[in-house]
Amino acid sequence: MADIDYSQKIPNNVNLAEDRRLQRALEAWQPKYVDWWKEMGPAGFQADDVYLRTAVDVGREGWAHFGHVQMPEYRWGIFLSEPEKDRTIGFGDLKGEPVWQEVPGEYRADLRRLIVVQGDTEPASVEQQRLLGKSAPSLYDLRNLFQVNIEEGRHLWAMVYLLFGYFGREGRDEADAMLERRSGDPDQPRILQAFNEKTPDWLSFFMFTYFTDRDGKYQLGALKESAFDPLSRTCDFMLKEEAHHMFVGASGIGRIIQRTCDLMKEYNTQDVTPHGGINLETIQRYINFHYSVSMDLFGSPKSSNAAIYYSAGLKGRFGEASKDDDHLLNSSESTFLTVSDGKIIEESSGALSLVNDDVRSDYSIDCGKGVRRWNRILSDNGVDFEMRLPHVGFHRGVGPFVDAKISPDGKVLSDEEWEASVKQWLPSEKEQAYVSSLMVPEYGVGKMAGWIAAPSSGINTKPVDFDYVRL
Ligand SMILES: [Fe+2]
Ligand SMILES: [Fe+2]
Repeated sequence: MADIDYSQKIPNNVNLAEDRRLQRALEAWQPKYVDWWKEMGPAGFQADDVYLRTAVDVGREGWAHFGHVQMPEYRWGIFLSEPEKDRTIGFGDLKGEPVWQEVPGEYRADLRRLIVVQGDTEPASVEQQRLLGKSAPSLYDLRNLFQVNIEEGRHLWAMVYLLFGYFGREGRDEADAMLERRSGDPDQPRILQAFNEKTPDWLSFFMFTYFTDRDGKYQLGALKESAFDPLSRTCDFMLKEEAHHMFVGASGIGRIIQRTCDLMKEYNTQDVTPHGGINLETIQRYINFHYSVSMDLFGSPKSSNAAIYYSAGLKGRFGEASKDDDHLLNSSESTFLTVSDGKIIEESSGALSLVNDDVRSDYSIDCGKGVRRWNRILSDNGVDFEMRLPHVGFHRGVGPFVDAKISPDGKVLSDEEWEASVKQWLPSEKEQAYVSSLMVPEYGVGKMAGWIAAPSSGINTKPVDFDYVRL
């Protein structure tokens, strides 16, 4: 296992220099990537010094180096976690056999598809977030936005390396297509719908990093189980970077809630909008929206594709080893929620067909942890309000609830009942316009916009009033 070599054009720990053909192919893709970054990455700020972390080691705790760098000069590279000695396949029909260092011919198309779908989300989110720098609530937040963007760019590199390295001509074409699709473009959209939506304001950004990046965590966790070892090792290291993205979301929403509590107390009111804050009900509606669209990314709970991927060892469940079952799922049953005759019911099915729902339900439990932390902020401030995750059937675009109308507390509604109440549950246009009216930049060192509290600490032991971005 090589250390990360930063003396090369493309930093890497995969001995790229020993594979001239692959190295040349990736070096030919690199300028196209940088062009994409300049065109579709953060609007503005490309010549400013940003305090960014860069991976310097994949193994140890202190794996990252921090320093000011201009974003186009960032050293995007290819970093895989250390190989696990004698690793064997942990699930599916080939359980117990050695993992693969090459792609078996019969799984080529499926594996390529899994990698392309994951890879496509990475540049997509950068595109979705490209205008947010212009309305950052602080330099601290501006820096966090760019850190997330830079690392999503690196995640694209992670997937593109696999495409170039293991999928020949088709892989190279797929890598080029990654730079040609555009989030929200009607002619060349990104593959998954949630990645074609806008991220128009910072409340949405924090919700996205909390809920949608967490979908990424669960997808990467499931792919990390893969029998295709290079994919497994790539995803393992991506997960390390991903943790910060979800921290940005969890802490960002927490700080908004804190600020709202402060304003509620200061002005003795429930409605903080006259004072430039974001009402708790609004935050709840944004949670409802982002949680429901993020759950759609897990696909249909019952899925024959997911069963095929599982049996073949291509994609497992999140935390496969911690699951207390046979890891084959051929003979066990499980249940999922669906709607029938106007009622929500539990339906049973073979566990193998419900792998998607297994991953999704672990995701939902994980989402609930942050909600509990936010509720602690509310109770610590003596505010009688509880944030909640809506029911799994609420506002779904994928799966058995698509044609049903389900309230956040899990009641089946008629179309009329839904229409009469949906304004209480999803952000209205007026409300979104209000949130966007708050989005004026605060670029003063250590200053915060009025709708969000300061973080309790800075990045990498630096103070909150550090010049995270030098404008
Ligand atoms: Fe990512
Ligand atoms: Fe992410």
